[in-house]
Amino acid sequence: MNKNYKKLIPITGPSITEKEVDYVAKAAKDGWNENATRYVNLFEEKFSKYVGRKFALATSSCTGALHLAYLASGLKKGDEVIVPNITWIASIEPLYYIGASPVFADIEPDTWCMDPKDIERKITKKTKAILVVDLYGHVADMRAILKIAKKYKLKVIEDAAEAVGSEYYGKKAGSFGGVSCFSFHGSKTLVTGEGGMLLTDNENIIKKARYYNDHCKDPKKLFWNLGIGYKYKMSNFQAACGLAQLERVNELVAKKRKIFSWYKKYLSKVPGVSLNVERQGTKNAYWMVTAVFDKKYKINKENLIKKLAKCNIQSRPFFYPLSSLPAIRTKVNTPVSYDVSSRAINLPCGQNITKADVGTVCSCLVKYFGV
Ligand SMILES: Cc1ncc(COP(=O)(O)O)c(C=O)c1O
Repeated sequence: MNKNYKKLIPITGPSITEKEVDYVAKAAKDGWNENATRYVNLFEEKFSKYVGRKFALATSSCTGALHLAYLASGLKKGDEVIVPNITWIASIEPLYYIGASPVFADIEPDTWCMDPKDIERKITKKTKAILVVDLYGHVADMRAILKIAKKYKLKVIEDAAEAVGSEYYGKKAGSFGGVSCFSFHGSKTLVTGEGGMLLTDNENIIKKARYYNDHCKDPKKLFWNLGIGYKYKMSNFQAACGLAQLERVNELVAKKRKIFSWYKKYLSKVPGVSLNVERQGTKNAYWMVTAVFDKKYKINKENLIKKLAKCNIQSRPFFYPLSSLPAIRTKVNTPVSYDVSSRAINLPCGQNITKADVGTVCSCLVKYFGV
C-alpha cells in the first residue's frame, strides 16, 4: 500500500442508516408466525409501485429471479435467446440451467447496452426471446428492441439488476418487456445484502413464477408437489432492509448522480477518457462509474487496476465478453464488446464516497497516464 493513500476507497458499498437498522430489528422481533411474510409482501407491493409494474415476487437474488423469469416465460431446452455479449454471467447462467442457448449480440459503443442492429442479425428460427440488460445503469434502446421483438414475435426479459432509479422516456427501468428482474446485492444502489425481485404486468407469468418458487406445490393439497420446483425466497429481514432503502431511494439515486458529476468534472480535463453516457430521453442512475480509455493509451486494464490498488483504491475490470470466458468460450462476431472491454474499468462509486475521495482516484489515474 502506498503510504500517501491511507484510507481504502472501496469500489461499491451501501448507505445504511438508523432507519435500516430499526426496520430490520423490528422484523426480527415481530416478523414471525402470522407475520412471517409481512415485510416481504410490503416490499413487493411498494417496489412494484415504485417501478410501475402490477406484480412482484421478491427473491433471494437476481440470479434466482432471472431463473424464474425464464421458466415463467416458457423458455425451454433448445430455445435460443439473444443476449448482450457484455453483462455479468448471472444474466445468462439460468438459461443454461434450463437448456436454452444464449446467442451473443454486440453492444453499442457509447451506452454499452445491446445493439438493436446486431439483435436482428442474430435471429434464427430457434430464437424465442431477447434478454435486455441495462448495463451499469443505462437503459438499453428499448424502443428499437421492442419493435424487433414485435416484428419477430419474441419475448423480452429485462435484466434491470444494475438500474434501480434509471429511466427511459419517463418510464422506470424494469418496466419493459414481459418480465423484468432487479438485484439488491450489497454492491447495488438499493441493498438488502443479497436479494432480488421479479416484476411483471402479466398475471400468468407471476402465477407461474410463484408456483416454481414454491416447490411446485398443489395449491389445493398440503405437501403435494406437482413438479420439481425451486426456492429463491427473500426473508423478512432482507425485505425490512429493502423497505427502509426504498423510502430513501431518491436520495440514494441522487448520490449516485452526484458522484458521477464529480468524476465528470475532474476527468473532463483528461484527454481520451470517456465516461458513462446519458442518451437523450434517458436518466442514468450511474450504478457503476466507468471510464473507457482512448486506444492511444494502450492500457492494460488488469495492470491499471493493480496500480490503483497500490494507492488503496479498488476498481474493477469492465465485464469481459461472455464469449471469452473459460466457462463459455465460443467464437462470435461482436467487435465492439471486445474493443471496449479491453480498455475500460469501473471506478469507486459507493454511497459513502466523498468528493475528496473522487479527487484522489482521479489524481492517481492522471499520474498513471502522465498527463
Ligand atoms: C446485470 C446483472 N444481472 C444479474 C445479476 C445477478 O444479481 P444477484 O447477484 O442478485 O444474483 C447482476 C449482479 O451483479 C448483474 O449485474
